[in-house]
Amino acid sequence: MTTAARRPVMAGNWKMHLVRAEAEAWCAEVRAGLPAGRAAEVVVFPSFPLLAAVSAALAGSGVAVGGQDLHAEAAGAFTGDVAGRQLADAGCTWVLCGHSERRRDHAEGDELVAAKARAALAAGLTPIACVGETRDERHSGRTFDVLARQLEPLPDDSRLVLAYEPVWAIGTGETATPEIAEDAHAFLRERLARRTGEAAARAKRILYGGSVTPDNAGALARQGDLDGFLVGGASLDPKRFLAILTSLAAPEAALRGSP
Ligand code: 13P
Repeated sequence: MTTAARRPVMAGNWKMHLVRAEAEAWCAEVRAGLPAGRAAEVVVFPSFPLLAAVSAALAGSGVAVGGQDLHAEAAGAFTGDVAGRQLADAGCTWVLCGHSERRRDHAEGDELVAAKARAALAAGLTPIACVGETRDERHSGRTFDVLARQLEPLPDDSRLVLAYEPVWAIGTGETATPEIAEDAHAFLRERLARRTGEAAARAKRILYGGSVTPDNAGALARQGDLDGFLVGGASLDPKRFLAILTSLAAPEAALRGSP
């Protein structure tokens, strides 16, 4: 059976960093350094106040822009929140849902994350839904239970991208080994296959995030079920961002999931 090839994704999550001048300098440097004929889709996730400026600075570059969060409702009296439609209006085509920092700091549960992913799709945005276990959960042997629980309510939609981000690897400098990452990705793909069938599971893009650097990206990128990166700290430096992107360079024929 033929399946759609999985085009890798290089995503930079700036979190609560950079102001406009810094963001625009980043865009200029990344634009200038983008490899020609790159295999990966490239997307950056700035804070809300930077979105319009970054969208303008990246216009025509092929680098997409996304929001770091959205509200599950399309509009309404929700002070401080942002709707998918507003993100799209600011130039976004992507959005993060359920990042572990939102789950931790804003008490976002699995059902809310799933509702946000549905809202993103309804607004025409590509959601990256983040899943991942804490250090305690890993050490007590609950990793796969946690991943299955977080995956369960997410919508079955081919546009949705998953990101495996083990919480213990985020911002700690302690990256998952390629084997740990591959195990988790393969588990997620297997669960998806049971739910949506082999073909849809094989076509699903699953990114890895957690202390990705130019030094460890190559070995991670070689794992068969790993379809790109969601990078925090190292994405702030254009040179490191571009170096990680280069690790995803692959001839079209070698795209993951190709029949
Ligand atoms: P770091 O790359 O800084 O570990 O952050 C990963 C992350 O949370 C990306 O969303």
